[in-house]
Amino acid sequence: MTPWRKGPALADATRGRLLFGGDYNPEQWPEETWQDDVRLMREAGVNSVTVGVFSWAKLEPEPGARDFGWLDRLMDLMHGHGIGVVLATPTASPPPWLGRLYPDTLPRDADGRVEWWGGRQHFSHSSPTYRRYAAAITEDLAARYATHPALTMWHINNEYCTFDHGDEAAAAFRRWLRERYGTLGALNEAWGTAFWSQGYDTWDGVLPPRHAHYLKNPTQVLDFRRFTSDMLMECFTAERDIVARHTPHLPVTTNFMPLWAGQDAWRWAQEEDVVSVDLYPDPRDPLGGARHGALVQDMTRSQAQGPWMLMEQAAGAVNWRGVNHPKPRGLNRLWSLQAVARGADAVCYFQWRQSRQGAEKFHSAMVGHAGEEGRTYQEVRQLGAELARLGPHVTGTPVTAEIAVLHDWHAWWAGDQEARPSTRFAQPDLLHAWHRALGEAHLTTDVVHPEHDLSGYKAVFVPQLYLLTDAAIENLLAYVRRGATLVCGLHTGVADRDDRIRPGGMDARLRELFGIRVLHEWWPLETGETVTCAGFTGAPGPGSGLACGDFAGTLWSEEIEPADPDETIPYKGGELDGLPAVLRRGRAWYLSTLPEPDALRALLARIAADAGARPVLDGLPAHVEAVRRGDLLFLLNHSREPVTVVVPGTHGELLTGASVTGEVTLGRYGAAVLRR
Ligand code: GLA
Repeated sequence: MTPWRKGPALADATRGRLLFGGDYNPEQWPEETWQDDVRLMREAGVNSVTVGVFSWAKLEPEPGARDFGWLDRLMDLMHGHGIGVVLATPTASPPPWLGRLYPDTLPRDADGRVEWWGGRQHFSHSSPTYRRYAAAITEDLAARYATHPALTMWHINNEYCTFDHGDEAAAAFRRWLRERYGTLGALNEAWGTAFWSQGYDTWDGVLPPRHAHYLKNPTQVLDFRRFTSDMLMECFTAERDIVARHTPHLPVTTNFMPLWAGQDAWRWAQEEDVVSVDLYPDPRDPLGGARHGALVQDMTRSQAQGPWMLMEQAAGAVNWRGVNHPKPRGLNRLWSLQAVARGADAVCYFQWRQSRQGAEKFHSAMVGHAGEEGRTYQEVRQLGAELARLGPHVTGTPVTAEIAVLHDWHAWWAGDQEARPSTRFAQPDLLHAWHRALGEAHLTTDVVHPEHDLSGYKAVFVPQLYLLTDAAIENLLAYVRRGATLVCGLHTGVADRDDRIRPGGMDARLRELFGIRVLHEWWPLETGETVTCAGFTGAPGPGSGLACGDFAGTLWSEEIEPADPDETIPYKGGELDGLPAVLRRGRAWYLSTLPEPDALRALLARIAADAGARPVLDGLPAHVEAVRRGDLLFLLNHSREPVTVVVPGTHGELLTGASVTGEVTLGRYGAAVLRR
């Protein structure tokens, strides 16, 4: 595969402004309403709308027919009011006629059940018929609007996420496997089919991991996940190449679901001009939601290697949790500014106007059922004005992080399977815990793939990577050899790329790095069970204040016989009494348990300080977030209680235009953006 051109960038669409707007579904409304829409958009400072995401049946009411008239009028209307259009290919929700005429376009789950039309995303990524129809409507859409002055960017499909276990997918899976392994012998070897008499004598016998009597072959499952991500990406790149041919000057994106299991977003991000993500933290827990948001934003920025696009968020409640809480006053603004602080150059929503019908009529929008009098729209309008003021100061500027946390989908896919030592956690849980600990220590982190260049970081943190390729291990070893600090968490470096356990239960190079002679056994912990670990003192230097008394290890523990570590924190009592819970050799650390949150924060902060990484600001309470972007300092209060923050020197505050000397008070869910 030749690398994607990565030509036009988000900057070509923003042109010095922050994009502000959302998904706009005008086909759900009479055209009189469009006039009201543009009036309210203008009043709210909306400068970008994403149109056509679910318009296929409207654009192609019967096979091969085209109805572009309404979209022509809409595009003209937007252009007439200075609002740019991110035009979507409508291929996420095929019209009912496609499935009716071509049942092979419908996906099947592992139990063989068809996913029928009547919802959305009912397409088989492997179906040539689906791909043919998707390409045809994309071609005509791109040809028609290529020179339209409202068009600013392409949005391909929507949240690619379908698995398919049907016959079309089975045939494609075999092709994919042939390409990966070349011979059936190599496949049998990689999948370990000697176990349970699974050896294949013909390619035709190889299937997706369909419903089975007992545990499935884990490498088959792992490869199926890789295959699914690749097939969906083929659908994406096919449409991308069509639109790019018509508009080489315009950027192309597709919106990720954050940390979604079905898509290797590191790989995908390389195929996009603009990386965009949809983010829906739960407003019931404003602080927890902010922590989740920070992780997703750091990861998206790292995938984009620069500014990124918040394609969707909710102005208020979603409708897909059991109990759906609205956003309390101020939270929409706060979380939007958080995204900008962490590198977003676009703050957009699902959706502009709340639907009156259909499955999402209880999902909030920028203009809710309460209309322009409603609090949600009023807050949106205020935010639009603030983002317009902020835009010229922030757009295109970088966020610098001194440390990185590593993440990889393949390690997650391999680790998150049946029949493991413990099914009590999945890799993203540990990623969240470690990222949160570092965030509460006010350290800004990138989130990075284990095979990427790590040389710019003072310390690298690996919450858990069960599977590490040889290239990743060599990357980590080279990083430590340069004198930098590496911290790895439990059950890391266990499997190779085929999910084959490495001899000794952890890669020998890593065992040597950490000072582990024998890794005897894994001792996973039950829910609520903990293991006591001895306290630790701060390291000499900046980490010296970060001491901690005895603490609880959670989730997991390991029976490790050390070789000659430079430092250990032992388990106290129980089966593992005296054995290392944490050990360090040189600048390489290994944590064989998940310390309770306060202890994890103290330990990681101590190690980061020792490595020379500095908090953004000293003395901040945990619920105040501080991020530097370009020459701006964002301060965000994730609490209902006002807080005063000490900021040495005199600053201009960009949201209010006030001048700030020595300290600044942040109101309930308040924010300040300071520039010296
Ligand atoms: C996703 C989708 C949207 C909408 C929202 C609702 O982000 O892309 O179409 O369904 O969820 O939260």
